[in-house]
Amino acid sequence: MCGIVAYVGRKIAQPLLIEGLKRLEYRGYDSAGIAVIDQSGDLFIRRAVGRISVLESVLQQDKVQCQASIGMGHTRWATHGTVTELNAHPHTDDSGHIALVHNGIIENYAALKKFLTEKGHTFRSQTDTEVLAMLIGDVYNDIKARNHLAAGTSLLQKAVQAALHEVEGTYGIAVICKDEPDTLIVARKGSPLIIGVGQDEYIVASDASAIVGHTAQVIYLNDNEMAVLRPDSFRTTTIDDVDVHPVVTQLENKLEEYELGDYPHYMLKEIFEQPHAIENCTRGRLELRENRVVLGGLANFTKELLHARRIILTGQGTAWHAGLVGDYLLEDLAKIVTEATYASEFRYRNPLVEDNTVVIAISQSGETADTLAAMREAKEKGALSLGIVNAVGSTIAREVDGGVYLHAGPEIGVASTKAFTCQCVVLTMLALYLGRRRFMSPQIHQELIDGLASIPELMNRVLQQSDLVRQITEEYCERENWLFLGRGYQYPVALEGALKLKEISYIHAEGMPAAEMKHGPIALISDGMPVVFLATRGYQYDKVISNIEEVRARGGKIIAVATEGDENIKRYSQHVIYVPDIHESLQPLLTVVPLQLIAYHAALHRGCNVDKPRNLAKSVTVE
Ligand code: G6P
Repeated sequence: MCGIVAYVGRKIAQPLLIEGLKRLEYRGYDSAGIAVIDQSGDLFIRRAVGRISVLESVLQQDKVQCQASIGMGHTRWATHGTVTELNAHPHTDDSGHIALVHNGIIENYAALKKFLTEKGHTFRSQTDTEVLAMLIGDVYNDIKARNHLAAGTSLLQKAVQAALHEVEGTYGIAVICKDEPDTLIVARKGSPLIIGVGQDEYIVASDASAIVGHTAQVIYLNDNEMAVLRPDSFRTTTIDDVDVHPVVTQLENKLEEYELGDYPHYMLKEIFEQPHAIENCTRGRLELRENRVVLGGLANFTKELLHARRIILTGQGTAWHAGLVGDYLLEDLAKIVTEATYASEFRYRNPLVEDNTVVIAISQSGETADTLAAMREAKEKGALSLGIVNAVGSTIAREVDGGVYLHAGPEIGVASTKAFTCQCVVLTMLALYLGRRRFMSPQIHQELIDGLASIPELMNRVLQQSDLVRQITEEYCERENWLFLGRGYQYPVALEGALKLKEISYIHAEGMPAAEMKHGPIALISDGMPVVFLATRGYQYDKVISNIEEVRARGGKIIAVATEGDENIKRYSQHVIYVPDIHESLQPLLTVVPLQLIAYHAALHRGCNVDKPRNLAKSVTVE
């Protein structure tokens, strides 16, 4: 949510910043801006409402590209203040000496604004960020006036530190000042920042996508830490100015993984990448011959997991849906009491965390504020904290006691697809890992790990039906209301199918347990309403057929996702999309694919921006 990129070095900053912003655009895309310090020593700032391409056109009007080699950029997802050029970042103090980009929320901004207004400062925007810029400027001028700084100390650094002590809330910031034209200051609390370390240069960004093309050496800044970066030196400290030894690590992902390749959209690329992503996710973890699952990141916690009184799976959005699949898996296969709960609800309901509770935070980005807060709350209350995370080095990944990475590769499309299936795969492996050590027979275990290993190939068969799914979708995608229904393992899939459709095609869709429909939502069914039934082989198949009958009787149009070879289903449905036969616990991995494709084709047909749907952001780093 909001993307920051900043550069200091020997190259021309502007094109680097624009390229970085394009890579970060999926984090927020209502407005954007850059600030650099130009040759005459002035701040050069350009901002624009809309996508990065609009900002680029604004910059082109300047004819001559600014040659500065220090600067920063920001792509915004509005929190405080409407989407206007004035509210777009960077913001400056009123002397125009200091510029700031910010990701996060300054919670006490109203009190600070009042204080600064009373001191005579004039604000131009409605944002909390401008308050922070102004505060830094105010402190800067105070320190300068008192002129008591030791030689060689950065006044800007002191001002940022002092200002941050007054701030409540979250921030990832980059700051430059025209009076210190070779110094870039960055700091974080609650919003991610990564420092890419190059040869006489540093590129800082909210996530690795903007760094990977320049260097693979990175430093993950921790909460309450900051860095003072100059082309020939850098220093990391706490906000209290205590030196921090920087740990330089190697980025895992390659630049090509962030590229679109031959696909028209990231979402389609990521849907089709799923078989490969699952291969990477299971590599080295499924030992078919030994009939074993190996989860290195959990090896030290096996005892705690086996004796867990309760496992709490927590996340938001799609990650929560994966958690719900995990809830069914862990209770069914491992026989451990499990609960999937929205992180945002868990955090604030004063949750009971009994002894031997294990909380597992599920998150693609590893930065979702609600999930992070829930995990911290559970940890604080004594739970063992584990993570199922895609983004290596992300905050959740670093703060949990242990966990499992998805290894799904970067997910850029705002609507999560391959992260969902890989999250389900990890949860399946976890359920098998624990189930086998508890009550599961070697035969069932072998059947299930063989089944899991066959998913990539079976999924490819489902993907081959993309054209059929498109044809079916186009018949109904002018309808404004859809239902998605499933029972048991297919209930979370129904929720996920509805969420995907809502997110990217703006069609109102609801997902629910098929049986729940008759307790109210059945009133919604009108002539011609598309209803997607997850009607795969399983112990509730007959009950699902009864639910289909109830919808048909009221004029609903049935799109069934069914098991290959099921001819019976055709008698009840207008359309059937077949998936290969597999054990019930593995079916979500296949049945979700046609639903992802329905959402994709509907959005495309309706002319929506598939990868950057309105109002959404890929990673929501505010609560
Ligand atoms: C946002 C995204 C969703 C995502 C959710 C959780 O709402 O739009 O697609 O599922 O955040 O994200 P996470 O990174 O924690 O999986």
